Formats: sequence, C-alpha cells, structure tokens
Amino acid sequence: MSNPTSPVIGIIGGSGLYQMDGLTDVEWKKVTSPFGEPSDELCFGTLGGHRVVFLPRHGRGHRLAPTDINFRANIDALKRSGVTDLLSLSAVGGLREEYPPGTFVVVDQFIDRTFARDKSFFGTGLVAHVSMAKPVCSRLGNAVISACEGLGVVARRGGTYLAMEGPQFSSSAESHMYRSWGCDVIGMTNMPEAKLAREAELCYATVAMVTDFDCWHPDHDAVTVDQVVSVLLGNAGKAKGLVKNVVPLLGSHTGPCAQGCHRALDHAIITAPPA
Ligand code: ADE
Repeated sequence: MSNPTSPVIGIIGGSGLYQMDGLTDVEWKKVTSPFGEPSDELCFGTLGGHRVVFLPRHGRGHRLAPTDINFRANIDALKRSGVTDLLSLSAVGGLREEYPPGTFVVVDQFIDRTFARDKSFFGTGLVAHVSMAKPVCSRLGNAVISACEGLGVVARRGGTYLAMEGPQFSSSAESHMYRSWGCDVIGMTNMPEAKLAREAELCYATVAMVTDFDCWHPDHDAVTVDQVVSVLLGNAGKAKGLVKNVVPLLGSHTGPCAQGCHRALDHAIITAPPA
C-alpha cells in the first residue's frame, strides 16, 4: 500500500498512447474542473504499489486536435487527482541529424509559438508571473534517462522543443528557421502544458519521442501522418517500458523538489492582497 503523502505520478500520453499497460486496480473516472472538460476520463491505477494517473492528451480515439485540447482542464484535473510528478510523453519531429526517428529526447527548454490557447490559470483580478527559466524538473529528467537504460532506447538529455500551433505541419522555410534558432525537436502540444504545470506547482518533464525529420532533411521526404503513425507505434511500445521503469524511481522519492517546482507560486503573485 502506498503512503497517501508519497508521490503520485501523472502520465500524459500523446499520439499513439491512449492507455497504459501494466497498471493494476485500474479505474477510468471523470474528473470535473472549473476550467472545462479534460481531454478524457482519467485512468487511476497502481504500478508496483505506486499511484499512477494517466490521461490521453488527445482523448481515446484521438478526437482532439492540438488547438482544441483544454490544457487548463487537463492540468487542473491531474492536480485535483493528487498528481505531484507529471511526465508528458509526446510525438515530435526531429530537427537534428543526431535525433533520428526512434530517439527519445528529454528536453530542457521550450520555445512557445502557439497562439490560440489559454495559457494561464491567472489573469484579471489575480495576476501571477511564474518563472519558466528552467521549465522542466531535473529530477524527473534524470529518472527518465536512468529508466531508458536496458530498454534499447536511445535517450538524449537536453534539447529545445519548438511548440507550434498546427494542425498543419511546418513549411520548409519554417523548419529551417527553427533549426537556425537552435531548436532540436518540434511538436504541437507541450505548450502551454509545461507553463500550466509550473503554475500548478507540479514537477514536469517531457519525453519527446522522435517520429520524423519534419521537412528540412535533404535525404528524407517531408513528414506525413502515415510516417508519424508507423514510427510512433514502435515508440509507444518503448514508452510503455519506460513508464514501467520510471514509476518506481519517481514513486520512491521522498522530500520536497530540490528545484522548487512545488513552490513556483511563492514569489509569483503580483496582485496586492485585499485590504
Ligand atoms: N509531431 C510529430 N512530428 C511532428 C512534426 N514534424 N511537426 C510537428 N509535430 C509533430
């Protein structure tokens, strides 16, 4: 039996990841949020005695386009469910020769080019500015890298994730521009997710699973959905192995986050308290 104060591991599954294998005591439950409808019911279960909550980002059956995902409701529902540590598993395009399809990248930076999404829990009446200087929790990143050992997964530490609005893929000019900016992978979903996770004082990390070379590579065709799907089925199998290995590492952690993710709001609220 896990301790009620021990970590609760949240997993957000991206394209190709609509359920988690290996969980016991599984129950899908609707969690309501004042921010609207989460992408789906949340799947509650345990893995090796550790509590896990899984949410398919696009909904089961992949019903939601990136722009239509209610990121605020998703993060709020996970927080309300007791999640402390949140792993985001996401299909991405690779913007580097060294990050070919099949590579897992534990990114450490983001550039947010999305523009049609609600990006904050705060606003008029209560204004907050959290720091996004270090947007991912290094403890979670370390655990992912350790968990990949022995799985036959090439896992890279560090990289910049370019978040685009979509749903169309990039033009070649855009793809080359993102490379010139130093970006390493490109996807449509990890922003504003990472910003909201920080506002919710969650430890958060992204595992970016490369499915294609986007459209910059002279020796590869431009990305298509068929290509993404064919690679992500293999990546999804590896991701499930990763979850099995990472949950015990995260679940046995004790004490506060050394990076202070759980206290992100301590110095962020600028609105004066009521007189
Ligand atoms: N997801 C997977 N591959 C992608 C790409 N090339 N661009 C944006 N999102 C993606």
